[in-house]
Amino acid sequence: MKILVTGGAGFIGANFCAYELKTHPEDTLICLDALTYAGNLASLMGVIGAPNFRFERGDIADRTCVNSLFERERPDIVVNFAAETHVDRSVTDPEVFLRTNILGTQALMDACRAYGVGRFHQVGTDEVYGDLPLDRPDLFFTEETPLHASSPYSASKAGADLLVLAYARTFRLPVSITRCSNNYGPYQFPEKLIPLMISRALSDQSLPVYGKGENVRDWLYVEDHCAAIDLVMRKGREGEVYNVGGHNERANLEVVRTILRELDKPESLITYVTDRPGHDRRYAIDPGKIHKELGWLPTTAFDDGIRATVRWYLENRTWWEAILAGEYQNYYLRMYANR
Ligand code: NAD
Ligand code: DAU
Repeated sequence: MKILVTGGAGFIGANFCAYELKTHPEDTLICLDALTYAGNLASLMGVIGAPNFRFERGDIADRTCVNSLFERERPDIVVNFAAETHVDRSVTDPEVFLRTNILGTQALMDACRAYGVGRFHQVGTDEVYGDLPLDRPDLFFTEETPLHASSPYSASKAGADLLVLAYARTFRLPVSITRCSNNYGPYQFPEKLIPLMISRALSDQSLPVYGKGENVRDWLYVEDHCAAIDLVMRKGREGEVYNVGGHNERANLEVVRTILRELDKPESLITYVTDRPGHDRRYAIDPGKIHKELGWLPTTAFDDGIRATVRWYLENRTWWEAILAGEYQNYYLRMYANR
């Protein structure tokens, strides 16, 4: 089987490439990635020399690039991780989110139609459902929850999901979608909560917690997400959506305090800053469908996963220090000054 992985130099995509080569060494992977600020070839170092792995730099919204790659490689499965993914950036610069996340998805699906690809799998997010109230722990997102996006990022991902389902119905394109909760683990770019807090705490810098730190996220270790995508793209029913999550809900403040304890750093590093506009209160996934149909269950408990993640950032300082040394410094000032 030949699998085209788009966005494979990003956080989840890179973990997915490693997972696939480990669990399906008989398959060939082609990774297409534009190497935006979030893409990093260093995240692929474990797989880049493998005989059944090839990397191609290119933009999923560039039809010439996409079509010539499909013509050359003729993939059996396309799994689309490529996206602009940071909510805060979508607040300051929404346009690139619409281009990559919606038009890029469309360009890939048009190529899938033209070249008769057997499965197009869209890596989606639970953010398309909007949020849940903090005082209703009995409520969860199911696949039937109406889409109700809050940020330009989640609106662009909701638009992409709708387009994927429309291509299934109108053109009978064989598609599937997973909608996952917040991931954490190795190779996550340090603009996201967990790696941001780890990298700043390690240099005794202030930890910017939005609002009162009460917002809740449902955390899943990245390898568990990779296993879910692998199952759905190979065995999931065509045209179906599967929610992915591990019932690991934590308030942000609790997550930050856990990191500080793991690093033996003081809570006085925590600084409360002005909240994110439109900040979703709580995400919580009901993963019943993927469990019942495909037998998927997460294997990493949050306490173990966060410890492994903290250890990874301690042992791989060169990976994230190289990021912090570059354009990232301007990004941090732009996002966090005057908050
Ligand atoms: P990321 O930002 O770490 O990586 C995105 C990758 O896509 C980067 O390598 C980047 O270079 C590439 N890319 C961006 N624009 C591109 C373009 N036009 N053409 C080709 N490549 C392009 O993202 P991530 O956290 O790994 O997320 C991957 C996917 O999973 C996204 O679709 C995201 O919406 C989804 N998702 C993420 C999470 C999470 O918690 N991180 C949870 C659920 C779903
Ligand atoms: O739920 C899945 C989504 O999870 C993915 O679709 C997105 O791509 C991914 O970025 C993530 O979105 P969030 O907005 O939940 O992740 P982020 O790491 O940006 O923020 C997590 C929580 O932490 C959120 O409530 C905002 C808060 N936060 C974040 C940052 C960066 C802070 O309090 N301070 C911060 O500096």
